[in-house]
Amino acid sequence: MREKFLYLITYGCQMNEHDSRKIASILADYNFKTTNDANKADLIILNTCSIREKAEHKVYSELGRLKKFKERNSRLIIGVGGCVAQQEGEKLLRRVSHLDLVFGTHQIHRLPQFIARAEEGERLSETVFSNGFECLNLNNFKENKGRVCSYITIMQGCDNFCSYCIVPYVRGREKSRLIHKIQEEIEIASRQGIKEVTLLGQNVNSFGKDFPKEQSFSKLLSVVDSIEDIERIRFVTSHPKDLSDELIQSFGKLKKLCNHIHLPVQSGSNSVLKMMNRGYTREKYLEKIKKLREVNPSICTTTDIIVGFPGEREEDFQDTLALLEEVRFDGLFSFKYSPRPKTKAASFPDQVPEKTKIDRLSILQDIQADYSLSSNKKLEGKIEEVLVTGISKTHPERMTGRTRSNKIVNFEGNPGQVGRLVIVGIKEAFQHSLHGENINS
Ligand code: SAH
Ligand code: SF4
Ligand code: F3S
Repeated sequence: MREKFLYLITYGCQMNEHDSRKIASILADYNFKTTNDANKADLIILNTCSIREKAEHKVYSELGRLKKFKERNSRLIIGVGGCVAQQEGEKLLRRVSHLDLVFGTHQIHRLPQFIARAEEGERLSETVFSNGFECLNLNNFKENKGRVCSYITIMQGCDNFCSYCIVPYVRGREKSRLIHKIQEEIEIASRQGIKEVTLLGQNVNSFGKDFPKEQSFSKLLSVVDSIEDIERIRFVTSHPKDLSDELIQSFGKLKKLCNHIHLPVQSGSNSVLKMMNRGYTREKYLEKIKKLREVNPSICTTTDIIVGFPGEREEDFQDTLALLEEVRFDGLFSFKYSPRPKTKAASFPDQVPEKTKIDRLSILQDIQADYSLSSNKKLEGKIEEVLVTGISKTHPERMTGRTRSNKIVNFEGNPGQVGRLVIVGIKEAFQHSLHGENINS
């Protein structure tokens, strides 16, 4: 079979990044090699995100840019997968005449057969949600070479229907993978050299609730903790309303579970949280953070915040700032509210003017910049364990890796250290990274 080239463009969250690795991995069995050169490609796939309007627009503008490649090479196949594909389906084929294939978020396992059909000249859109395990059980083994960290899907979908969020509509209902399948995948990955796994789900705290005999996420964590060659475990994302005491205790008990939690709060105002349908109050959220810090005093916390949600008044925004000051997160991902199709909040009255959203976002980010820097500054002069993942992108003479608390560390080292846990003395802290010196080799 002739070697073919796949040019893959990925937008969105860790799920999409991981799905792209699965796509590259399945297509490797059909002689596709990934390339960074679109001119060489036989197949171009855009793996898309529709979480905010801007992300969706990017897809259309990227597709516009790709038209010239199709004009130069009529045999080129262009496909769109991911959340915009799921949301738009056939509409994408109608709007973009040089597009060959649209495949939904539950259809990745059927990609080879879709490509064969597109090669025969068919234009197709396949976006049904599936109830089976075929897509959920796909792995990315062929993409693990040279890597030390891997994502592992533990569940798909989301049943929470936060009023602003499109994910439940584009990823379908919650479905958990069987524990022994997850275990098997991690064992194989560890034999390939993977040392750190990040367990992925939109709401990992509801893992196992759909099994005939209910299982808990904490149970899964203890199974993963016992896999010999795995050194570190992380997970994203956990929903504050479902963060159980049992899971909080895991941060004190499991030696491989890293001391970092991403716990999206979205807003510090109870009235906004209610309209968002988040299912917790500001007080409940603060209580969970307190418990986490009691169980593991060195735990790092990061969060997501949306500003300008419909009806967010100045006083609600001030509540959010006060919550930031109270918690002092180590890191923050913040977004301007963006109305999404099908979601309840899109038709709420009192949409906030764009100018107010921009102002609030910049105030929030300025304040957090200080908090992030001062949290990193506390590590100056300290000793940290770093899992080395590669050569630093910004300083090619340095190596890069992460602390157990998920902070990026760049340090003078050598490429032979990739995949190893090394001890680094932290010399200087910046807002988004640390600079250090290896002191054990
Ligand atoms: N399942 C995860 C979040 C996935 S989406 C969770 O519940 O934590 C990642 C983040 O995007 C969300 O936490 C939220 O802050 C943001 N987001 C989601 N929908 C949005 C919208 N319509 N406008 C702006 N930000 C949004
Ligand atoms: Fe979206 Fe809420 Fe589900 Fe997260 S929990 S994916 S924010 S609906
Ligand atoms: Fe985007 Fe879909 Fe992830 S909408 S954030 S790629 S689940």
